[in-house]
Amino acid sequence: MLQGKRILLIIGGGIAAYKVLELIRRLREEGASLRVVMTKAAKEFVTPLSVASLSGTKVFDDLFSLTDETEIGHIQLSRAADLVVVAPATGDLIAKMTHGLADDLASTLLLATDKKILLAPAMNIRMWLNPATARNVAQLRGDGVLFAGPEDGEMACGEYGPGRMSEPHAILAAIRVALESNTSIPLPGRLLSGRRVVVTSGPTREPIDPVRFLGNYSSGKQGHAIAAAAAQAGAEVVLVSGPVALPDPSGITVRHVATATEMLAAVEKGLPADIFIGAAAVSDWRVAQVAEQKLKKAERAPVLSLVENPDILAGVAAGGKARLVVGFAAETENVIEHARVKLAHKHCDVIVANDVSAGVMGDDENQVTIVTRENAETWPRMRKDQVATKLIAYLAARLGGIRG
Ligand code: CTP
Repeated sequence: MLQGKRILLIIGGGIAAYKVLELIRRLREEGASLRVVMTKAAKEFVTPLSVASLSGTKVFDDLFSLTDETEIGHIQLSRAADLVVVAPATGDLIAKMTHGLADDLASTLLLATDKKILLAPAMNIRMWLNPATARNVAQLRGDGVLFAGPEDGEMACGEYGPGRMSEPHAILAAIRVALESNTSIPLPGRLLSGRRVVVTSGPTREPIDPVRFLGNYSSGKQGHAIAAAAAQAGAEVVLVSGPVALPDPSGITVRHVATATEMLAAVEKGLPADIFIGAAAVSDWRVAQVAEQKLKKAERAPVLSLVENPDILAGVAAGGKARLVVGFAAETENVIEHARVKLAHKHCDVIVANDVSAGVMGDDENQVTIVTRENAETWPRMRKDQVATKLIAYLAARLGGIRG
């Protein structure tokens, strides 16, 4: 429930604005107290009358309204809230925020507020993928602005891809997380500013023939969350991702690969870096001779001959092109002991050990132990994005120590 929570909702001008009516209804159902601001363009998509009727409150839209300013000044409007939510957050609003522009009530409030801001972006796929938007989003994440979505899907303009505004229930979930100050770990916006971080994530696929491969159950959720958290901390991030069902995190350079050999090449291209984090479940072996044509069922089952893949993590540690080298250890038994052996063998600085026997792969939660040469620290079970945020804060502190 959001009883007693004060939310300043800014509605931007996009076709997704109609979904905000449902969000307003749900926020009120949960007991939140709402103040609503609409941009000029928003009023082209939904009427202030429907917004006012559903929200049960007057809609603010004019920076220079004398009546509004005598009732409640725009500075007060921006501060008298627990959270500022922008939905839909258009490319234009995002660009204005990035540059601190304030030429209407919505952008002025965003510049003047001292509260957390949550954006639910919505725009055409090309606009979302435009490097200008990607830069702006990375910058805002670095400044500590929170994001809900966008999601992949069919657009009003008929195209398909990332840019669709999250559904009201998903925005509502993000609002709850943003408001629960003790469950979300604060991450100072500029903890890794000016740093470069390379992250591997997901599984690799080693082909057997044109239609079959060796793979594993890695979902990429933890690695992708780490890349997003590093970007939120202000780092320039290269994410090298195996085949996963996740959308590319915004504001991050993502290199898509399939095999371990391709992953290695993409990592090498991404270096040098301040931090390398090997979160991918890299296949230890590949098939020695990949069949050019699909293997046919014969009398005898084929025998696959395997050769060892390059160890990306060990290679990065040996190459000296990353100042802090962090590996993962997916274990099903003796987790900490095996992690210690891996740390020593692969010459890395930190191993994030997790017990994968308990179905962690694909799950939204993780329980990890941070193993270094000096000690082992077990963290409580938490959501993968929280593990990511805590890990980035931990690594930033460790990197600071190296520099000092
Ligand atoms: N790793 C890697 N390249 C490989 C294999 C693993 O970079 N060819 C990295 C993973 O990204 C992870 C760490 O090494 O950070 C540990 O992976 P894991 O599969 O747990 O360990 P292995 O070295 O494969 O050892 P084992 O399978 O025997 O436990």
